[in-house]
Amino acid sequence: MDEKGISQAVIGRLPRYFRYLGELRDEGVERISSQELSELMHVTASQIRQDFNNFGGFGQQGYGYNVEYLYREIGKLLGLDKTHHLIIIGAGNLGQALGNYMNFERRGFILKGIFDKNPDLYGRKVRGIEVQPMEMIERFVKENDVDIAVLTIPKTGAVAVAEMLVANGIKAIWNFAHVDLNVPEGIQVENVHLSDSLMKLSYNLERYSRMKEKE
Ligand code: NAI
Repeated sequence: MDEKGISQAVIGRLPRYFRYLGELRDEGVERISSQELSELMHVTASQIRQDFNNFGGFGQQGYGYNVEYLYREIGKLLGLDKTHHLIIIGAGNLGQALGNYMNFERRGFILKGIFDKNPDLYGRKVRGIEVQPMEMIERFVKENDVDIAVLTIPKTGAVAVAEMLVANGIKAIWNFAHVDLNVPEGIQVENVHLSDSLMKLSYNLERYSRMKEKE
């Protein structure tokens, strides 16, 4: 399968398919048609078929898709059949909140370590994991086979920290710092801006009020 031409928009929809299929599987549903999935997810059946065709269609035969198979295949595409080891850099409000959220582990994202530059935080525990000094990262990443770093520090210093992480073998960065990171090709970065989501909500709120005014 050639995954090169697949758009980020399609990739962005995969986690939602995965979630819905996981729920259907837990409910004991064995097969589902694209029409039924479309009604459940409020997207068109043709969008679902087009999305799935990017990955070979997932063998829809007879009546609909096999839920268990589709769930597993999408999980594999998302790399969720493997375990990933994470570290958090920045043990402030956001870093601690993410560290305390257990659900990532269900998906195979195992939090291994938390690091900060503030000595007052060393030894403080987040879900049983002690905050360590930044100087420990090099050894820790090697010993714990860490592939993903979660960056929850302010933008000042984030670029340099990201470079240091990559130099120490980190392959992917989940970046919450409000700055674009400068990483070599092959290193994956996913920028998260919660405020973007809030602004989208605000836009839709405004749009709805404008529409109502016109009625
Ligand atoms: P905070 O001030 O509670 O925590 C920041 C932590 O990072 C502190 O413990 C500090 O000692 C540590 N730190 C700072 N520079 C560091 C460095 N160079 N190396 C290692 N540790 C370092 O702040 P909070 O609320 O946890 O937010 C963290 C950052 O995330 C802020 O810059 C904020 O703007 C950003 N943020 C981003 C969001 C998003 O959606 N992308 C949402 C909320 C916050």
